[in-house]
Amino acid sequence: MKQTALITGASRRVGKAVAEHLSGKGWNIAVHFNSSEQPAEDLVIGLAAKYPQQKFQAFKANLSNIYEVIKLIPKVLETFGGIHLLINNASVFGPGYLKSTTPELFDEQLNVNLKAPFFLIRDFANLCKTGNIINFVDTRVTSNKSDFAAYSLSKKGLWDITQMAALELAPNIRVNAIAPGVTLAPENKDENYLLNMAQNIPMKKPGGIDPILRSVDFILENNHLTGQLIFADGGENLGRNA
Ligand SMILES: NC(=O)c1ccc[n+]([C@@H]2O[C@H](COP(=O)([O-])OP(=O)(O)OC[C@H]3O[C@@H](n4cnc5c(N)ncnc54)[C@H](OP(=O)(O)O)[C@@H]3O)[C@@H](O)[C@H]2O)c1
Repeated sequence: MKQTALITGASRRVGKAVAEHLSGKGWNIAVHFNSSEQPAEDLVIGLAAKYPQQKFQAFKANLSNIYEVIKLIPKVLETFGGIHLLINNASVFGPGYLKSTTPELFDEQLNVNLKAPFFLIRDFANLCKTGNIINFVDTRVTSNKSDFAAYSLSKKGLWDITQMAALELAPNIRVNAIAPGVTLAPENKDENYLLNMAQNIPMKKPGGIDPILRSVDFILENNHLTGQLIFADGGENLGRNA
């Protein structure tokens, strides 16, 4: 049987690139989406045409709603029979200093970025029993900058759960994380925004998708690795040298 990966937020950007990459390596893909229904369907159709021996299907769930979260893994299992890799990629990225954070902003960031992955990890552990989990955090987990206070807190929590789950679920399930830094511009910003941001990191240029795909491969190919965080961030986690 071919192996199946469930990737949250897989219809666009980083999630889509990871879905295309793993498809090329023979994986079946459960493409999770929330609002991007057409891009998700287009991705599934494109992958099915390119890799006719593999299986692809899109699954909708609003990850800010816990009742939709806890139905996702059972729904994917009904279609695919098994899930061998869970990638918690879906995320919201809402700005706000601590002093200006509303309860609504706090709940949205924490629900999508932390609570949903927590319960998907729980369900993967209980229902799938063996395999790999990769959580997408952010190089901000090493910083106390508070311009995205609730977002940063959610990603710090996701890194903590990564380690906690790695300890509890070993040896049958490995749990690791990837921390992107300056990768893709947010959708409301252009390429210059990204180039300017990259001037503040040691490697002085945006990473793009490639370091992330290589990090996914490194985790999957190293079967003694668990509870680790791979920084795909051009050294941003090191801070500034001036
Ligand atoms: N891009 C970067 O430079 C960067 C930097 C640091 C960390 N990261 C991390 O890397 C990962 C991928 O980044 P990205 O920029 O590709 O992410 P993104 O475009 O901001 O978001 C990915 C997907 O998350 C889904 N999502 C948002 N709210 C949701 C909800 N309520 N329910 C279900 N799905 C929801 C969206 O799906 P729909 O479109 O279907 O609604 C969206 O396509 C994220 O975890 C991000 O935090 C990225």
